[in-house]
Amino acid sequence: MVASLLILILLALIVLFIWDIFQKEHSVLRTYPVIGHVRYLAEDLGVYLRQYFYSNDREELPFNRAERSWVYRAAKNTDNTIGFGSTRDARSIGSIYFVDVPFPLLYQDAAHTRAVLIGPECAQPYTATSLINISAMSYGAISKNAIKALSAGAKLAGCWMNTGEGGISPYHLEGGCDLIAQIGTAKFGYRDEEGNLSEAKLKEAANIPQVKMFEIKLSQGAKPGKGGLLLASKITPEVAKIRGLPMGKDSESPNRFPEIANSSQLLDFVEKVRSITGKPTGFKVVLGDYDWLHGFCQEIIKRGFHSAPDFITLDGSEGGTGAAPVSLVDYVGLPITESLPALVDILVGYGLRERIKVIASGKLITPSMVVWALSVGADFINSARGFMLALGCIQALRCHNNTCPTGITTHNRWLMRGLDPALKSTRVYQYVKNLEYEVGTICHSCGVTEPRQLQRKHVRIVSEHGTSVSLESIYPNKTPGEFLK
Ligand SMILES: Cc1cc2nc3c(=O)[nH]c(=O)nc-3n(C[C@H](O)[C@H](O)[C@H](O)COP(=O)(O)O)c2cc1C
Repeated sequence: MVASLLILILLALIVLFIWDIFQKEHSVLRTYPVIGHVRYLAEDLGVYLRQYFYSNDREELPFNRAERSWVYRAAKNTDNTIGFGSTRDARSIGSIYFVDVPFPLLYQDAAHTRAVLIGPECAQPYTATSLINISAMSYGAISKNAIKALSAGAKLAGCWMNTGEGGISPYHLEGGCDLIAQIGTAKFGYRDEEGNLSEAKLKEAANIPQVKMFEIKLSQGAKPGKGGLLLASKITPEVAKIRGLPMGKDSESPNRFPEIANSSQLLDFVEKVRSITGKPTGFKVVLGDYDWLHGFCQEIIKRGFHSAPDFITLDGSEGGTGAAPVSLVDYVGLPITESLPALVDILVGYGLRERIKVIASGKLITPSMVVWALSVGADFINSARGFMLALGCIQALRCHNNTCPTGITTHNRWLMRGLDPALKSTRVYQYVKNLEYEVGTICHSCGVTEPRQLQRKHVRIVSEHGTSVSLESIYPNKTPGEFLK
């Protein structure tokens, strides 16, 4: 038995040797037959093994081990304290510090995060209670078990879940959480036979009590100027049915809404969705060129405050994706660290800051980054990958090809089986609660009673001289309405 196995292995190696030496595609294999495969294996495995053996705590991207571990511990509700001292290099250019006060608040003086009313003039406004919410990830990009876990976890945590651009699936509804229904450029779930916006389908969605708001997806941080992309390997019969897609073909959404080519048409579209649904309506965008925002705000002023979107979801270019071309992910769009202060300032300058709520996303997965975003002016924080990590994501970087080892971005039954929705919903809940708790902890040190009282003066950033400067001096606060004079 053993002997015949050895003979088989030997035969296979001889065949491989002959194949390698005569093929022309890989020089390494032509020159080093058989043994050359070790190089390819090492290249494949390197991306996964580096994080365990070689990388230090603060060097990996998109998220380093320190960030991932914080989320894992928060989600598991295990101790997130450390001993000896910080491993963060707090002196490098761009590092941030929060400004503490000599007499911090006593814990009992801390106020809970207040609820915020969005779209007060809508027939059905939405009172959002959670600072931290689940960003858009469609059924298709992520598995049904992942959606079930997120939806049940969001219900426990009292936060919203954005459906992503794939429409509303039964799994989104299962957990009973508040939903933000996203309308992507392909209008999956909301389009008629010709691909136009279907009033009937919008009404049907708006009649679902769990659906609290509608978000028009202009763009996503990781791929500005490109529509949603779902590779054929991830289109199951059920996903195809919900989206109205054929099987076996990659699904590429239009890279823009055909009917939205300027600010005026954007406001028309917002108004159309809002008047059909009666629910707060806003849009998601990644900023690059700021100039259009001035024109956009001026158009709102011309039409009247009622015409404004009820919220803007600002995604940073550092945002995640289910699938996107490298050149867009790496190079196009501005990171949230630059675009958020700009958006907030422009809204303040036009006197629109109170009218339009700002939801920020882009690697805001730990307490420090949430506090940074609130200090700059965000009303709410959205996260996609923070919640993926809470579900057990190991940053294998395979979201696009249906082989996610943790069952989050795959429809493979065996891989999905690894993700138990009931258990992981508790992780989602605990992640939100521990994140909020530690945001509160920083607030105490800075002497503010409510996270949204944080201001730019509470953040300092290390400059090129090695000393820190206040964020307020880099982005001076605007006077409300100053651009209207
Ligand atoms: C697997 C996956 C699927 C996503 N699907 C969508 C989507 O359908 N619509 C959308 O607007 N953004 C989508 N995004 C982007 C996220 O909603 C979010 O804006 C971005 O990842 C930034 O948040 P993060 O840094 O916390 O992940 C997706 C992201 C991931 C990782």
